[in-house]
Amino acid sequence: MLPDKAPDEDVFCGSADLKRDAHVASFEKYKELYMKSIETPDEFWGDIAKDFFWKTKHSGQFLDYNFDVTKGKIFVKCMEGATTNICYNLLDRNVHDRKLGDRVAFFWEGNDPGDDLTVTYRELLQRVCQFANVLKSQGVKKGDRVSIYMPMVLELVVAMLACVRIGAVHSIVFAGFSAESLCERILDSDCSLLVTADGFYRGDKLINLKLLADEALQKCRDKGLLINRCIVLKHLSKEPEEILGSQSPPTKRSCPDLQVPWNPDVDLCWHALLRGASDECEPEWCESEDPLFILYTSGSTGKPKGVLHTVSGYMLYTATTFKLVFDHQPDDVYWCTADIGWITGHSYITYGPLANGATSVLFEGLPTFPNESRMWEIVDKYRVTKLYTAPTAIRLLMKFGSEPVKKYKRESLKILGTVGEPINPEAWQWYYNVVGDKRCPIVDTFWQTETGGHVLTPLPAATPLKPGSATFPFFGVVPAILNESGEELEGPSEGYLVFKQPWPGVMRTVYGNQPRFETIYFKKFPGYYVTGDGCRRDKDGYYWITGRIDDMLNVSGHLLSTAEVESALVEHKAVAEAAVVGRPHPVKGESLYCFVSLTNGVTFTCTLEAELKKQVREKIGAIATPDYIQNAPGLPKTRSGKIMRRLLRKIACNEHDLGDISTLADSSVVQQLFQNRCSTAV
Ligand code: WT7
Repeated sequence: MLPDKAPDEDVFCGSADLKRDAHVASFEKYKELYMKSIETPDEFWGDIAKDFFWKTKHSGQFLDYNFDVTKGKIFVKCMEGATTNICYNLLDRNVHDRKLGDRVAFFWEGNDPGDDLTVTYRELLQRVCQFANVLKSQGVKKGDRVSIYMPMVLELVVAMLACVRIGAVHSIVFAGFSAESLCERILDSDCSLLVTADGFYRGDKLINLKLLADEALQKCRDKGLLINRCIVLKHLSKEPEEILGSQSPPTKRSCPDLQVPWNPDVDLCWHALLRGASDECEPEWCESEDPLFILYTSGSTGKPKGVLHTVSGYMLYTATTFKLVFDHQPDDVYWCTADIGWITGHSYITYGPLANGATSVLFEGLPTFPNESRMWEIVDKYRVTKLYTAPTAIRLLMKFGSEPVKKYKRESLKILGTVGEPINPEAWQWYYNVVGDKRCPIVDTFWQTETGGHVLTPLPAATPLKPGSATFPFFGVVPAILNESGEELEGPSEGYLVFKQPWPGVMRTVYGNQPRFETIYFKKFPGYYVTGDGCRRDKDGYYWITGRIDDMLNVSGHLLSTAEVESALVEHKAVAEAAVVGRPHPVKGESLYCFVSLTNGVTFTCTLEAELKKQVREKIGAIATPDYIQNAPGLPKTRSGKIMRRLLRKIACNEHDLGDISTLADSSVVQQLFQNRCSTAV
């Protein structure tokens, strides 16, 4: 399945320096370990598990599963019988057993340059224990769901690990999501408490997060869920010293404009609650398959899916992928620019790095604020060795040329990583040549919220790279490419990317909806986990992701479903029907191009267009803001009434070669749609 020998054309290899200390230092070693991970998984993962703390050991097989819907319920169980606590493994184990208490866990870099803080493993442990005690005093128990809606502050990590310590299930909602999205997620997971912050700055823009949180809680009440506790971190508001105590001060930036509504019956001040809270808290010992967290991701029907991950498998998988994919070494300073509100931040800011005792940068701000050199300034300031970012950020920075990069030395950098979408060759070359000065291998990591961690990825000192390819499977992962009839294709081929067996980090279910879990991922091709991505395998066995093959869009590395945006549009009384497609965008990868059919008697105006954009932003969040809205008196449909999105994609791009349109019910609508194209859409 893997090539006998690595190819030698067009490839980039890690330097001799990197290979010297690498965990996996050659392609031969990778292949040997890969075969071990597939043939003797109990031994392979059993060795890895020895580094962690288990209150009780597991019995039986390492993985027990059914991946075939025709044989009954889909399930994955990893290390049944074992009990542990991830928070204990991330913090206590590092502080007490590995003597890493004084090591920096996070360098926090605020939105504004000069606003920074450092927290060691020992301090993080104390703060997590204190907040865990606060949660307990608020009645949060093992298994309860806690919703967290916070900016990129240290307290976000503290809140999530405090949940983990007491066995509560965190459901983090990205702070860029709207009140409506937050409400929907709180309701779906039936959370009993919300943790949020007063506000934060994104560049120059002040976001009053508390207002959005209040609006979400009101919507929840309207729908019958009474949440009567909301813990609010005063991140920006000035609080008296006696309330703040020795905990981190709020950001240095003053913000006289921030008005924080306060309801004394519901709202609780984070810092006031901490006063007197003990910094010792016995962890709750959890079963391997107890729920760890829920994280929502877009679903093609429009309703977000609550992806559920569980304790032991997720811990081992994120720890191992982090260690090997970034070739973690004790003196590293690692920086992942993702937000913790997405899976990348969960797995590769919190869980993977802390499990390895790594030192990371936690950045609150934007890559272009206060100027386009910010990222490189941060790289030099902390002497970052491993940098993990997204193609959309690379393309954004590329626009400003190499000068803002070259102002800083970046000599500390050793490995670069990317995630979120296929990386185009220009962006790859720029990242490699300009950012990495041709010294640093790029790990292009393919994975999903559902996979928990990297599933197709190079290992930096072992895998010869081909720009744009996520290369080969990680340990324990068995990919296949299927054709439309579900047959496995051999050798060079293109089709559906699927996985044939579980790995420890794969999702366990859609929270509260096992049938949906089985339908989405396992029904189409019985016996396989279906990723929803298209993929090509070249003659050397390298995997190349070609993009989504369902009704999903990838905007700046984040998935959105067309149905989700369409339903936000049709909620407007002027819209009778909507169809949304992706249109290639130079920075975002894809942007939203929306066709709307208006209700009788309504005319299309600029005001309406602006209202519709606002409506989508308010329903979903800023990332879903449409770039174009086009008036579409008629939509291209088949005789059975199915919208032909393939044609709409062509119209959005002004491509007149439409291919076969014989199934179209009324071909005159196409001409009309070309004429009505948005004038700004070149
Ligand atoms: C989808 C998953 C995993 C963290 C970020 C997104 C696309 C992700 C790559 C890559 C090509 C990629 C896929 C995937 N994707 N990484 N390296 N190359 N495509 O998580 O929101 O769950 O999205 O992102 O389409 O299915 P997500």
